[in-house]
Amino acid sequence: MDIVVVGSLSTDFIVEAERMPYKGETILGTNFSTAFGGKGANQAVAAARLEAETAFVGAIGDDGFGEKLKTNLEQNGIFCGNVETFTGEASGTAHINIYDNDNSIIVVPGTNRLLTPEVVASAHPLLEEADYVMLQNEIPVETIKHVIDFCHEKGIKLIYNPAPFIPIEIEYLEKCTLITPNELECNALFGDDVSSAVMKHPNQLIVTRGEQGCLYHDGETEVHVPSFKTTPVDTTGAGDTFNGALAAFLVKGLDLGEAIRSANMAASLSIRAMGAQGGIPTLKEWQEAMDHV
Ligand code: RIB
Ligand code: NA
Repeated sequence: MDIVVVGSLSTDFIVEAERMPYKGETILGTNFSTAFGGKGANQAVAAARLEAETAFVGAIGDDGFGEKLKTNLEQNGIFCGNVETFTGEASGTAHINIYDNDNSIIVVPGTNRLLTPEVVASAHPLLEEADYVMLQNEIPVETIKHVIDFCHEKGIKLIYNPAPFIPIEIEYLEKCTLITPNELECNALFGDDVSSAVMKHPNQLIVTRGEQGCLYHDGETEVHVPSFKTTPVDTTGAGDTFNGALAAFLVKGLDLGEAIRSANMAASLSIRAMGAQGGIPTLKEWQEAMDHV
């Protein structure tokens, strides 16, 4: 396997309205849709569409949603032999409210919280043959620590996307090959401004800054990798697309700066369609966009 994602799968329930209701108020919304999501699944789909050989380690319930989440991964060419089904449990959901220029999200982990170190242990052989393992924060923190320790001991490269923020000791961060927080997550994790944090973790800490692209330090100088401008339709999952694409381009042998630039293009293409996975480009779509820069 090129890439093994250990992470969350969720159904996204997307409600659009003109404004946020006040506490206790009922208003009419303008649209409702469901979409495949979960940070782990989004990252895996991004890697797979860019033609990296990708496997998923995760947990679903037998509630009807779970099977669809797994089938969606398979239809994207992702190996799901280590996606466990839990009887009588609800699969993960994310409840996304989109208002004028804003959104708010409630994530209900469901079976994502059942992705324990014990479940991951049965996937150790899969992890050991991975070029890169990928992790995010929608699964239990014990599992995150377990995967970080396992990859560190075995010398497996690991990309850790610490989103959404949960506190974790710096010793775990330091064991990761790459850490990819946004600015707020970076401040919260490292207790430093972004420039000082990247300087202290050269070629390891990549801070994503939305429209402003990414920042890292190459050991000699601070490097700013600009994003590609586009008109956004739905920015949900842009960060996940960046992460999955980053892994895929590193697997293809690009150096860190080029892989970040390439992943920025994938993220920028992803926000042109509704849904976290809606706009994630195939390698061909990505290549065409690069040819027209
Ligand atoms: O990063 C975007 C994802 O976060 C969505 O797909 C939703 O599932 C939320 O968890
Ligand atoms: Na999108």
